[in-house]
Amino acid sequence: MENETLKRRILSGIQPSGDLTLGSYLGAIRNWAALADEYDCFYMLADMHTITVRQEPAELRRRTLTQVAAYIACGLDPQKNTLFIQSHVPAHAQLGWVLDCYTMFGELSRMTQFKDKSAKNTDNVNAGLFTYPALMAADILLYQADLVPVGGDQKQHVEICRDIAARFNGIYGNVFKVPEPYIPKVGARIMSLSSPESKMSKSDKDQNGCVYMLEKPEDILRKFKKAVTDSEACVRYDQKEKPGVSNLMQIYSVCTNRDFDAIEAEFAGHGYGDFKAAVGEAVVELLRPIREETERLLADKAALQAIYRDGAERASRVAGRTLGKVYKKVGFIDR
Ligand code: TYM
Repeated sequence: MENETLKRRILSGIQPSGDLTLGSYLGAIRNWAALADEYDCFYMLADMHTITVRQEPAELRRRTLTQVAAYIACGLDPQKNTLFIQSHVPAHAQLGWVLDCYTMFGELSRMTQFKDKSAKNTDNVNAGLFTYPALMAADILLYQADLVPVGGDQKQHVEICRDIAARFNGIYGNVFKVPEPYIPKVGARIMSLSSPESKMSKSDKDQNGCVYMLEKPEDILRKFKKAVTDSEACVRYDQKEKPGVSNLMQIYSVCTNRDFDAIEAEFAGHGYGDFKAAVGEAVVELLRPIREETERLLADKAALQAIYRDGAERASRVAGRTLGKVYKKVGFIDR
């Protein structure tokens, strides 16, 4: 298994299917920048995954470009990290097809994301939505990734990737590195502010529940002010009985690096009004430099293009080697 730099590898990605959310930042991207020195990191924009649900083409292009700028603004230095757009590296589709043939109908049927998404898009339950996890497995396995930093909702997809890799290796020998998920202790599942029993999601119809990374400060503050809590009027962590307050505590904890005991002490005797305002302010301050830097980077489209082109070249070299090995193993003749 080759690895030019001898550092351990990371691969992860986000779908540009909606504007980036506070959930994807706290669950995933925040950890990515921290790992850049220790690992050889590949971060992609999963545009091919987005068309499993209908997209407006111009919007998809706008969001993809904005997401490239946001990755960099979050601290992913394009010199140290390989940043690329999935559709620019054809090996993803190519290995995706091969892995489709090594992934079972039964295991795909058990994926909770497929069940959720097919229930939400009853008029478009397409084959891509069903085989999505095999494409995601290809994304990861092409790079021989050791670690996949994701939020809790993607754990099942990393697990099926491990199963597919082990199955393939069982037949053909040691072709793929079997990757580990990397899920943060706090922030792995940020919930909607308006219905804290469901995940904060970029495709949520209720705009008040979801905070976007590049949103204006006044809108962020307004959403936190409206956040659903409970009638106890006491800031304490209880995921089951107080999902709204516990979610806000998680967000505040990550933004301020304070643990739950310290947060409970800080707001003892205060009403929820003060607490919600403080969480809103902390999020605004966390996101402010990212928003400003994203806007600055977006002004120079040529520079962004140079970055994602260079990323696609670097990614293609690594991915091409794995694909070549796989083609040989399954019996395809060399061109
Ligand atoms: P996506 O685009 O839905 O989400 C991107 C990342 O953000 C995390 N995340 C959250 N974490 C905590 N709380 C939330 N409310 C929240 N919402 C999103 C997700 O867990 C994810 O880490 N299939 C993937 C994209 C993908 C991928 C890959 C990821 C495609 N290929 C290969 C890793 C490796 C997805 O739809 O994530």
